[in-house]
Amino acid sequence: DGEVYKYYSDGEWKTSSSGKSVAIINPSTRKTQYKVQACTQEEVNKVMELAKSAQKSWAKTPLWKRAELLHKAAAILKDNKTPIAESLVKEIAKPAKDSVTEVVRSGDLISYCAEEGVRILGEGKFLLSDSFPGNERTKYCLTSKIPLGVVLAIPPFNYPVNLAVSKIAPALIAGNSLVLKPPTQGAVSCLHMVHCFHLAGFPKGLISCITGKGSEIGDFLTMHPAVNCISFTGGDTGISISKKAGMIPLQMELGGKDACIVLEDADLDLVASNIIKGGFSYSGQRCTAVKVVLVMESVADELVEKVKAKVAKLTVGPPEENCDITAVVSESSANFIEGLVMDAKDKGATFCQEYKREGNLIWPLLLDNVRPDMRIAWEEPFGPVLPVLRINSVEEGINHCNASNFGLQGCVFTKDINKAILISDAMETGTVQINSAPARGPDHFPFQGLKDSGIGSQGVTNSINLMTKVKTTVINLP
Ligand code: G3H
Repeated sequence: DGEVYKYYSDGEWKTSSSGKSVAIINPSTRKTQYKVQACTQEEVNKVMELAKSAQKSWAKTPLWKRAELLHKAAAILKDNKTPIAESLVKEIAKPAKDSVTEVVRSGDLISYCAEEGVRILGEGKFLLSDSFPGNERTKYCLTSKIPLGVVLAIPPFNYPVNLAVSKIAPALIAGNSLVLKPPTQGAVSCLHMVHCFHLAGFPKGLISCITGKGSEIGDFLTMHPAVNCISFTGGDTGISISKKAGMIPLQMELGGKDACIVLEDADLDLVASNIIKGGFSYSGQRCTAVKVVLVMESVADELVEKVKAKVAKLTVGPPEENCDITAVVSESSANFIEGLVMDAKDKGATFCQEYKREGNLIWPLLLDNVRPDMRIAWEEPFGPVLPVLRINSVEEGINHCNASNFGLQGCVFTKDINKAILISDAMETGTVQINSAPARGPDHFPFQGLKDSGIGSQGVTNSINLMTKVKTTVINLP
């Protein structure tokens, strides 16, 4: 109907002076679903100026009051889970039930963050000088955590609400202001979520939401001199952001090639159900999805059969109907996935199902006998396509995992806990899950990637700490 969603600045909903909009294509219908404002660089300057000044008084607002507002926003968000979930379904084709779960999880995350912030920011340290050689007890050192200033949050399309609040809530509880740049797919869900913060009554200018094309305002935002911290989740754009950003703390989570190492003694039914959940939920569009199965040759046939049987039961179709497999986010993403599949085909991988695609909808596909010369052995499909590499030793599995440029998570299946721990220690990833598929949550667990998978650690506590600096005051006695 031509309506363009407004952006959020100075506590108000505004139309951009650009007169331009950005279209959000529904991945299932491939038609324009919504439009958002294409904000200008001047509008970015304005929100930065407002964020800087609003932060000064926010930092002086008592911690319990900041927490109270966050709890309020969390409650409003949960009350509005249905319309927000509906926009997730339309914008990113996330199955309806999972969309509701994302919103509820986000409300819980905000509340947890408020509680955690009250505890960890309500405490400081007291140090005495005479523990260091050569000193008498003449210096008392008091430490506290102070905010950084303006935090820029850039979440990805796959969790536009949840990965936005996982940045917003820690930033705000710690006394920072927040500028949000939503992903294009997911922007409307983000705007609805921001409206919940608006209704909670946060001060004007403290939170802003700028929409537009990354190619037009992306660099301008990330290189803006007013920004004191960037929290980004997404693809390898994060690598270029890191190179261009100034001397500010960065929190980057940039995808992975999470390996699932399966030993001979593993419970293969447990492995198979975790491969389905880990590899195919939200059609594989999770940074923590299982992206390569490394299974011992002796149990590979049995495992592949079990997984095949479960793949056959996955439903494929519209997110509105809660199908397991839905359209991937864009045509270019579907083309990329298809490229990986065709490369594997040319090089002789075994197709456990027939490859099928309609528009952006790709049927779930397990590729057996994948070898290291195939692109899919290394690249991240971000789609419902999973390669299986057969290994002859645990070392071969560990070596494959560690040869990746990614290092987000991994998992190992075995009944031998001693072996599992040794393998976990040997895997160069931020997290290793023993006997379960990789996952970020519960959201207070530390979440981090090694190598090209990221910088800094997330999870409620680590995010609050990352978005603060330590300040010390030293009392000198005569
Ligand atoms: O896509 C990246 C997310 O951080 C993964 O979160 O493990 O809860 O799906 P998840």
